[in-house]
Amino acid sequence: MQVKRFSAPLGARIEGVDVRAINDSVWKEINSLFCEHKVLVFPDQELKPEDQMAFAQKWGTLVRHPYAGLKSYPDIIELKNPGKRKDINQHWHSDMTYNTRPPKLTMLYALETPTIGGDTAFANQVLAYDDLSAGLQHTCDDLAAIHSAAGLAAMYRESPAEAPSAEHPVVRVHDETGKRALYVCKAFTQRFRDWSRQESLGLLDYLYAHSIRPEYQGRHQWSNNDLVMWDNRSVLHFAVHDHADEPRRIHRLQVEGPVPG
Ligand SMILES: [Fe+2]
Repeated sequence: MQVKRFSAPLGARIEGVDVRAINDSVWKEINSLFCEHKVLVFPDQELKPEDQMAFAQKWGTLVRHPYAGLKSYPDIIELKNPGKRKDINQHWHSDMTYNTRPPKLTMLYALETPTIGGDTAFANQVLAYDDLSAGLQHTCDDLAAIHSAAGLAAMYRESPAEAPSAEHPVVRVHDETGKRALYVCKAFTQRFRDWSRQESLGLLDYLYAHSIRPEYQGRHQWSNNDLVMWDNRSVLHFAVHDHADEPRRIHRLQVEGPVPG
């Protein structure tokens, strides 16, 4: 197994592994690389949906998206390129934070990728937290925030009133590494607990801008047959839509995580 970091803040490319055939000790090694680098890329994988699900299930139970899923494989969402105007994913976020137990990881398998563009960008939220002043760290340590899928429901033409929502700490402690990470995102965070939305927005807007500074970011440029997994407990991500109408077809799934603490 060769491990090559692909950017300073996060991310490693793992070569020489067939994820269909790994034993427990290799899995442990991969998980520790995952916790360290936060984003792993496994190039040149030949995966059926069952193979991708089996690899992901080594981390736990698959969790379904509330509004999307393949008919034959409801745990898998097929991301397609619907043209930029219909693209609903142009924002920095951690996946499904509106769940009480949001997914600890998201895993994507590329079936068809553009010749250039369509990267996924990531931002390391441990670095973002570490760079805050001690004063703002202490303030954030004591805050919780309300996350909601209401905006997402509207985009899928579902009822916002029935959309899931959850309350999480603004700084979460990683259940495996013990590291602290900022855990808010513009897509789903509504306000701080016990604060009005208007009161929350000033500090939230500061944190949104801070959390995606260039020095926390890394990007993955996709090739067909890449398998990529990221740690929603410690990174934000952004699907960059700069590939116009060139096809981009990816199978996505999520693995349930712990209640953030
Ligand atoms: Fe996402």
